[in-house]
Amino acid sequence: MTLFTINKVGVLGAGLMGHGIAQLAAQAGCEVILADTAKQALDNGYAKIKKLLDKAVQAGKLPQEKCAEIIARIKTTTDIKALCDCDAVIEAVPEIIDTKKQVFCKLDEVVKREAILATNTSQLSITEIAAATTRPDQVIGMHFFYPAQVMKLVEIPVGEHTSEWCVQAIVDLAQRMGKETCVCKDTPGFIVNRLLAGFMVEATKVYDEKLASVEEIDKAIKYALGHPMGPFELFDFSGIDTMVRVADGLVEAFGDRFKVGIGVRNKVRAGDFGQKTGRGFYDYRKD
Ligand SMILES: NC(=O)c1ccc[n+]([C@@H]2O[C@H](COP(=O)([O-])OP(=O)(O)OC[C@H]3O[C@@H](n4cnc5c(N)ncnc54)[C@H](O)[C@@H]3O)[C@@H](O)[C@H]2O)c1
Repeated sequence: MTLFTINKVGVLGAGLMGHGIAQLAAQAGCEVILADTAKQALDNGYAKIKKLLDKAVQAGKLPQEKCAEIIARIKTTTDIKALCDCDAVIEAVPEIIDTKKQVFCKLDEVVKREAILATNTSQLSITEIAAATTRPDQVIGMHFFYPAQVMKLVEIPVGEHTSEWCVQAIVDLAQRMGKETCVCKDTPGFIVNRLLAGFMVEATKVYDEKLASVEEIDKAIKYALGHPMGPFELFDFSGIDTMVRVADGLVEAFGDRFKVGIGVRNKVRAGDFGQKTGRGFYDYRKD
């Protein structure tokens, strides 16, 4: 089978995940169009990429001219139509099935026929998202972890109709980004989030029980299990809204064992999503 090589990458959604994916694609030598409906998200994402690359230059890890080349490969836009001639688009919009379906329907309309449409969903059905398009054989999961620039794995869930050439093209792209890949079946939560959610959901229950303070629980897990962050630090870091949506999706598939506690649900209702809003289980606002 001839390898379909992806040279121009579109990234839709410039939030926590999207800007990191755009940086990785540019570092892999691809032309990148980073698109978002919010101009502010694009400006923030672009600034974060620049800051990280500048830091690498200052640390002597990246030559200045290479840094300039990587940055020059990334263009930003609020117009989804600008993704029209990409070889692959990686979607990183919020974890809401209706939003994903609407976005894929639109991408199918505007992006060239031979392109691959990939989703960074954490647990939603690739097959269901693919069914919103006229090219379900070219729709696939490309699940990066946060922060995408640092985390080594890309999980690649394969939909019911995804073609083998599409799997190979996405594995190749992930490897060019310097990642390890893991191809798996399209089931809720795939491998990593199904297992991680069990742990995180239990943490929301001990929070409701006031078993100990969040600081004590995070400390216990870090020192006992060698995790880089405790569960509440991880909630705040990854976005409480996103993590609760992942768990809710698993309830639908696997039942109440993935049902989160009331305390974490109330944080979502209050708009306290963690580091990105300034407050979550911890307070990040400056006095
Ligand atoms: N946060 C994590 O740790 C993490 C890890 C792996 C995967 N994911 C997945 O990545 C996806 C994005 O998550 P995130 O944490 O980056 O979310 P986020 O809220 O930080 O960013 C989402 C971005 O999408 C934009 N957006 C919303 N609707 C849009 C539309 N219709 N068209 C274009 N842009 C739109 C928003 O303006 C925002 O900038 C989700 O599917 C999530 O499950 C998240």
